[in-house]
Parts: sequence; C-alpha cells; structure tokens
Amino acid sequence: MGEIDPAFIQDPDHRPKLFIIEAEGIPLIDLSPINSPDSITDPKAIEGVVREIGSACKGWGFFQVINHGVQLDKLRNIETAARKFFALPLEEKRKIRRDEKSVLGYYDCERTKNVRDWKEVFDLTVEEPALVPASPDPEDKEETEWHNRWPEHPPEYREACEEYAQEIEKLALKLMGLVALSLGLPENKFSRYFKDQTTSMTLNYYPPCPSPQLALGVGPHKDGGALTVLAQDEVGGLEVKRKTDGEWIRVKPTPNAYVINVGDSLQVWSNDIYHSVEHRAMVNSEKKRFSIAYSLKPSHYTLIKPLEELISEENPAKYRPYNWGKFMTHRKLTNFKKLNVENIQI
Ligand code: SIN
Ligand code: FE2
Repeated sequence: MGEIDPAFIQDPDHRPKLFIIEAEGIPLIDLSPINSPDSITDPKAIEGVVREIGSACKGWGFFQVINHGVQLDKLRNIETAARKFFALPLEEKRKIRRDEKSVLGYYDCERTKNVRDWKEVFDLTVEEPALVPASPDPEDKEETEWHNRWPEHPPEYREACEEYAQEIEKLALKLMGLVALSLGLPENKFSRYFKDQTTSMTLNYYPPCPSPQLALGVGPHKDGGALTVLAQDEVGGLEVKRKTDGEWIRVKPTPNAYVINVGDSLQVWSNDIYHSVEHRAMVNSEKKRFSIAYSLKPSHYTLIKPLEELISEENPAKYRPYNWGKFMTHRKLTNFKKLNVENIQI
C-alpha cells in the first residue's frame, strides 16, 4: 500500500469496498426508435422508450443509453484532446487554474464534503458568458459573468470541447422531452428553463492512486442540475447508491453508451416522483481514467419548484421554491456539492 496525503483519506464509512458489485439492474435503454431516420417513427416504440425512461428514473435515478444519435467522432476528438491536455506538465495546466477571479478552468484540488478528490478537472460553461448571482444571499442582486479559460495546448482543445458540447446538448434536451412525456406532461414542458442555461461540462482525469482503498476519485454526491450526460471510458469506477438497500453498485462501462442521471432540479420538478441519487467514482492503482460530464442546468433566474401538474391534495408540494442561480452559487462557493435539495424540503 502506498502513502497518500491525509487530505485525500475518506472516513472509514465512505471508503470503497474492494468487493465490487456490478450493475445488473441499471437499465440500458436503446434510443433507436427516437433516432430513426424514417420520417414516420413508430409511436408504440417511442412509448416503450418513454416507459423505460420513467421506470429507470424512478427505480435508479440512473440509466445508460445506446443508439443515442451522438456523432462519435466528436467524442473521440474531445477524448484525445483531454488526454493531451492532462498529460501536460503541471505548471502548464496551472496557467488556467481556477482562482478568485474565475471559477472555471483547470483545478487539481477539488473537494467533495471536505475530503480531496483524487482527480484533476477542467470545467467550462456551455453558454458563454454564463450570468450567475455573485452571492447566495437573496437580497444581493449582484451578478458575475463566468468566462471560459482555454489552454494554449493542445491547439484543437477548444474546438473539440465546443463541438462536443453542442452535440450533447441535442441529446440532453431530447432526453428532457422524453422525461416530460414519462411524467405525463407535454414534451416541451421543460424547454423554457434552458434558455440562457447555466449548463456546464467537466472533463475529469483520475490518475492512478497508490491507495485506492482509502481515497475516492470523487466522493459521494448528488448532481444539482436537471440531468447529467456522462461519457466514461473503458476503465470503470462510477458507482451508484442503490435505492433499495443503499449498496454501492458499479456502472459497468458499455462501449459507446452514455450514463444519464437525474439531478436535484428534476427531483424537485417531479415532486419526488424521480430521485437524484448519490454516486461516487473509485480510482485504481494502475490505470488512468477519464470521464466527461455534461450537466444540463437551467437559467439562473429559474425558480425551481414542484410542477403544478404533479401536486395534488394527496401529494402536496414537497419543496419550497428556490432560485436556481443562488443555489448553484451556494454550492460553488461553500463546501462544493454539500448543499442538496434536502435543505429546501418542506
Ligand atoms: C461525477 O459524478 O462527478 C463524475 C463521475 C465519473 O467520473 O464517473
Ligand atoms: Fe456527479
């Protein structure tokens, strides 16, 4: 066993188990019916996809999709660019390090709930500049602009990130439409929240770790936005907390699949029909691991609250309305990823 900085060591209850349970149950959904090139798509097949998505969001808060229509060359380009960027010397990467002036860019000291994550990240906002409240104080009207910071090397990095983000946006919005249908709502129910969106993308690099049984690539957390579309490479490490028994289940990498998960905002809109589920990433002592998380997030002005259509006398609203931008700023400024919608529960 190697030595690691104590800042990375997880509490004994959070340490990963070496015995891994692989996900038999996490649904793998074939999206070919909605991507059919025929102009007449089979409504029965689409209904089937909608049903599968609904039951995955209820049962797991997670699913994988295949035949999703994403151009895979865009994924290959960003993967190659990310590998080149993270292989640069530390001084080079730190030229665009996150600091007091900018929360975006490269960072090698990410923490989840006060413990350091065994990873390096590069964060960007998809719609630039993103307007974001400067403080979580509801009285404070000041806004900041989030600008992306790009490295000089590799030169193709920026284009690869931007083209990939555009490609994934189509999938993410399509999925939100299917999610709306699965809740018995019109397909475009959520569309208006994503004008001036604060969507972000994070490129994660998990270097080999000499003590993978003590540290985590990213500690247990829930995602705050609407939906996350994650590309993970073939190494594996993502684990999901199973709702039925709290056991950590490994999401086995499936070639060319995306991992989709429900975020806190969708949990609230659905008034707890769907759940944002805790997840984490394990590291290993031999292999580098890369992942790319695209987190679809509403505009900062969005007041998130349970949708009227999903509230009734028997099922009253479970959350107070909250401003998305303030919530996101709070998560970013305070102990990253610690604030969850449990804090907004009625
Ligand atoms: C995350 O949830 O923040 C990343 C998960 C992963 O890299 O698998
Ligand atoms: Fe996450």
